[in-house]
Amino acid sequence: MDPRIKSIEDQVNNFLIKTKEDLESYRLQFISKKGVVSSLFDEMKTMASEHKKQMGKSLNDLKQLAEERFKTAQEALENNASTASADVDLTLPMIPNKTGSQHPLNLTRFRIIEIFERLGFNVEDGPEIENDWHNFTALNFPENHPAREMQDTFFVEKNPDVLLRTHTSNVQIRLMKNRKPPFRAIMPGRVYRNEAISARAHCFFHQVEGLYVDKNVGFADLKQTLYHFAKEMFGKETKIRLRPSFFPFTEPSAEIDISCLICHGKGCNVCKYSGWVEIAGSGMVHPNVLRNCGIDPEEYTGFAFGMGIERITMLRYSINDLRLFSENDIRFLKQFKPVI
Ligand code: PHE
Repeated sequence: MDPRIKSIEDQVNNFLIKTKEDLESYRLQFISKKGVVSSLFDEMKTMASEHKKQMGKSLNDLKQLAEERFKTAQEALENNASTASADVDLTLPMIPNKTGSQHPLNLTRFRIIEIFERLGFNVEDGPEIENDWHNFTALNFPENHPAREMQDTFFVEKNPDVLLRTHTSNVQIRLMKNRKPPFRAIMPGRVYRNEAISARAHCFFHQVEGLYVDKNVGFADLKQTLYHFAKEMFGKETKIRLRPSFFPFTEPSAEIDISCLICHGKGCNVCKYSGWVEIAGSGMVHPNVLRNCGIDPEEYTGFAFGMGIERITMLRYSINDLRLFSENDIRFLKQFKPVI
């Protein structure tokens, strides 16, 4: 037998037909008039007759084999296509798109807003680039206060001073100046300080500040409001402690601590073995601040507080490094699934 026939026979048997394109190239190679089998038939016509007879038989077998393979492959492809489309059930609900997760700082911010909204506080907003008056002067900061130095605050311009706000208290000032009391508002937002970046500090972070100004607002209102907040945020068992402190814009001022969530007051490394963790600064709005905003301190009094959202989020989710919040590490972020 002509060795070429044997070789074509092997090729026919081994040709992989998986797609319509495969089938077509198979057809061109072995079945069509220009294919290898046809050209051997042409060649045969010129041969001597005894050769012709022998070759004719094997060539006919080859042609049959090639055609049979073509038919089976064609049928298989058609069957596959029809079963595939019958498999699709258009009434099934679609596979849901993957949803992202909410940033933990947002989860905490929303929770804080939710708690204070139920106490009648609305949400106020203000600029992150601020002039000296709204960030410092109106808030009773003395001329030589260290926050007014370049080392502590990012200035955008000097004389007149424009800066990245160091706290959200500028929104308190804008609110008191532009509207009439009573006020009950919280002010979430981003703030900036010229600090070295570490596990506990960053050059930007987020605060929520609160302000309540009305006739007869007293220190007891401040204490009860923050006590209520602490229990809502961290659980019914949470205790609070007020420590005397100083801020230029409040008098008297107090630091608010909560009982440590990890050791429940027994002492651990989170609370540095004191049993208490600081969460906010607070106090009664200084009469000078009210006066600076055109409010009569004889008629109105108020309290204010400010807390770091990062700090509260770290306590809430036991996060030990503040830098994680701004590194965009998907392994960290995807742990905070949204509650839809
Ligand atoms: N503005 C203060 C800070 O950034 C926080 C604060 C707000 C303290 C209101 C008392 C009253 O540290």
